[in-house]
Amino acid sequence: MAGALVERVEISRSALVRNIREFRRLIGRKRKFLAVVKANAYGHGLLEVAGVAVSEGVDWLGVNSVDEGAALRDAGIEVPILVLGYAPLAGLEEAVARDLRLTVYNRETVKRLAALAVRLRKNIRLHVKVETGTWRQGVDPKDLGAFVRDIRKRPGLVVEGLSSHFANIEDTTKHDYPRRQLEVYRSACRELEAGGPRVPLKHMSCTASTILFPEPEFNLARVGIGLYGLWPSKETYLSCLLDKKEPLSLEPVLSWKARIAQIKRVPAGAYIGYGCTYRTSRPTVLAVVPVGYFDGYDRGLSNAAHILVKGRRAPVRGRVAMDFFMADITDIPGVKLEDELTLLGADGRERIAAEDLASLAGTIGYEILARINPLIPRVIV
Ligand SMILES: Cc1ncc(COP(=O)(O)O)c(C=O)c1O
Repeated sequence: MAGALVERVEISRSALVRNIREFRRLIGRKRKFLAVVKANAYGHGLLEVAGVAVSEGVDWLGVNSVDEGAALRDAGIEVPILVLGYAPLAGLEEAVARDLRLTVYNRETVKRLAALAVRLRKNIRLHVKVETGTWRQGVDPKDLGAFVRDIRKRPGLVVEGLSSHFANIEDTTKHDYPRRQLEVYRSACRELEAGGPRVPLKHMSCTASTILFPEPEFNLARVGIGLYGLWPSKETYLSCLLDKKEPLSLEPVLSWKARIAQIKRVPAGAYIGYGCTYRTSRPTVLAVVPVGYFDGYDRGLSNAAHILVKGRRAPVRGRVAMDFFMADITDIPGVKLEDELTLLGADGRERIAAEDLASLAGTIGYEILARINPLIPRVIV
């Protein structure tokens, strides 16, 4: 029924497969590969992406919430799933019932899980997160030993992983801060393992660090944005070149398409859209696009972005409203009602990249993708 839709998000299976294979080449077979599919797979469609990732042999999936993990289990996905975000105390039983691995850093969580392990007679595998300088989630390294000992003395709880997360690897080509985080992480691992058993899975990497810091002791790599065909930042790409590493060949996976809702001829001197922020300087043909900020098309793209029509660029005129915006198609002949438009992705030789929209909207490619309304159908092509 995709042809009847006014708007759709297309997911290129071949691009996704290509990106997964590029990262597998980098990660190798000895390390585990976790595909980060949180935030509706960065806007690409949780189930659609997870299905392809699992069929390509990805070992683990990473979600933000228990709900996302449960949706994957409902879809019949059986690979290990790690909840990277916060699992509320009231959601722990469901997480355990669905065999989701949890990231833990609060004593209250451990206590609840210990009670569940006894009541449900189940082994519950946990990933302890250690704070190394992002100050977001994690146990202070000086408390780590006691935290892990407390887990290990509780029947049924198993420390399967030790994780952390980089704060400042994407935004710069100078990597002294992440190197310091790495040192904090390493010394936390050393201390922990000196006083007890080894932790099977050690993981701190994201896309940028998988590319830039192929540290041998990390035996699980958590890759998000790269799977979707984006570099985390220009700085990451540049760092890769400065390190004389061959850049991965990544291909954007997502295209966002819509159909023209009306073609409108307006005179010179007409004000377009809310706030009268654009005034035509010539007789103008407008395409009315039935997409707005509710769909995730950022209001910051008002009077700034382009869309593609018949392989040509058409500038956005006036403000992006909740459900509509207008684009100037005066110079593009032969456009008809319901012709296809490309908001993101390629049409002929032109391409609108998520990074282009991000720089116009004052954000990053991650946000442009992740905020595409999940209600818009995702179609694998
Ligand atoms: C804990 C954690 N690990 C891994 C990732 C993946 O990062 P990236 O998309 O840069 O690969 C994220 C993304 O925000 C994350 O929060």
